[in-house]
Amino acid sequence: MNALTNAPMSNYVHIFDTTLRDGEQSPGCSMNVQEKLQVARVLDELGVDVIEAGFPAASDGDFESVKAVGDLGLNAIICGLSRTRHADIDAVTRSLETAKNKRLHIFLATSPIHREHKLKMSKQQIMDEMTSAVAYGRQWFDDIEITAEDAGRTELDFLVEYFQAAVDAGARVLNVPDTVGYVTPSEIRQQFLHLSTHVRRPDSVILSAHCHNDLGLAVANSLGAIEGGARQVECTINGIGERAGNCSLEEVVMALRTRHDRYQMRTGIDTTRLYPASRVVSSVTGSQVQPNKAIVGRNAFAHEAGIHQDGVLKHAETYEIMRPQDVGVPENSLVLGKHSGRHAFRDRLENLGFKLEQELLEVLFVKFKQLADRKKSVYDEDIEALVLGTHQSGPWHLDAISIHTEVDNADQSAEASLKLRFEGAAPRIYSGRGDGPVNAIVNAIKLIMNEELHVEEFQVSAVSSGSDAQGRAVVRATIGASRYQGTGVSTDIVEASAQALVTIMNRHHQHQGKSTAEPQLKAAV
Ligand code: KIV
Ligand code: ZN
Repeated sequence: MNALTNAPMSNYVHIFDTTLRDGEQSPGCSMNVQEKLQVARVLDELGVDVIEAGFPAASDGDFESVKAVGDLGLNAIICGLSRTRHADIDAVTRSLETAKNKRLHIFLATSPIHREHKLKMSKQQIMDEMTSAVAYGRQWFDDIEITAEDAGRTELDFLVEYFQAAVDAGARVLNVPDTVGYVTPSEIRQQFLHLSTHVRRPDSVILSAHCHNDLGLAVANSLGAIEGGARQVECTINGIGERAGNCSLEEVVMALRTRHDRYQMRTGIDTTRLYPASRVVSSVTGSQVQPNKAIVGRNAFAHEAGIHQDGVLKHAETYEIMRPQDVGVPENSLVLGKHSGRHAFRDRLENLGFKLEQELLEVLFVKFKQLADRKKSVYDEDIEALVLGTHQSGPWHLDAISIHTEVDNADQSAEASLKLRFEGAAPRIYSGRGDGPVNAIVNAIKLIMNEELHVEEFQVSAVSSGSDAQGRAVVRATIGASRYQGTGVSTDIVEASAQALVTIMNRHHQHQGKSTAEPQLKAAV
């Protein structure tokens, strides 16, 4: 029951997706604008109610991507994050000027530890700061969400006071995050029950849960919050996010659907688009989904034990509480080859969750044909990798690479020559030596960087099966004080490694907001 009206509370849970904001904060999950647009389209098709597109005041890049998502004309509400300062709110206002449906999301910490050590503000100052921000935002936004950062460790009576003031100032959504992933399901249920009954509000004002996964409880806590009265859940695809991640969208949605008997709740999500959405996010972020991940992991519907296989063959429900097709796991893994035409290719892309404009489709089709010439069978994973490749944006492009390695019993050495082109300039050859091909490539690239480049992690894996499979190289590196991840895919794993490193150079360039002129080189051959 709603405490104010005594009306029964709605059984609709709003799905607020923050893959592009909190999710992007996970190490190595940063996306460029094109990648964010791709994800935003997928989220809209999935049927999420709100897309949190970014934090416009954080950087010019964030501002541009929130604006670009707003310009897409999607059905979902597009939301921008903001601190309480007016300049942040102005940035959200400007970035969402053209969005069809928009929301301003203001956050301010409320817990004693944040009040004392981070903000150095009293409770009263926090109340004043928050209400004045809501009043300021109301000039441009009907839809304002207010967050009490670290609500999980905030005194309940102060939360009631804070949210009551937010409602009175005109906020529509009251977000109660467990910022540090500390609370337990029974605690959060109690917290939401208390807020549901003590904050006076009209039916249109809803409570929202935003749970982090530090103790592996984010989904369980979100469900606990729903039991206590939350009608919005904030989550990310594949559960990506800061530290151990956020509540996983696919898990919470499928829990509500599969256990409708218990929760009696519905969402607007087309669950058959969950698996494609997971694949798209995994391929654009380069962040692999663990095989045993619930709902979307490779093994989520695989039955290994003979007794289980026997049971499933006799009657699927003996061991399956959901059907793979309910979450959009493709029933067959169609293999394409060099005789496959445009139509089959586009069909497969759409099945995998990629709806692309004609122009991009043509570019990809040419690449697909080239790939099919190099390897006999083109699998779904190869196609995803092709799409990922098209999102790599410059200014550096790898035109060619040649490697010479020598290995004898005592020694190993390699020399790499990279033909690199900076947008608008003629290509140049950069050479480096090292004790192996990747080390030689890194040394060649270091000639271009004016800061220290340090490779922290380097992994190569097969994208699909077979000895002609493409290799995916994932590199994590630091340049100066910033950390980046780059992915490259090719039938040649050395070329894949070089591409991954070039992606890192480009990410660094974009992050620095550098000029479009070719940087001063340390040395060039
Ligand atoms: O975890 C958190 O508290 C947040 C807020 C900004 C919503 O991400
Ligand atoms: Zn968060």
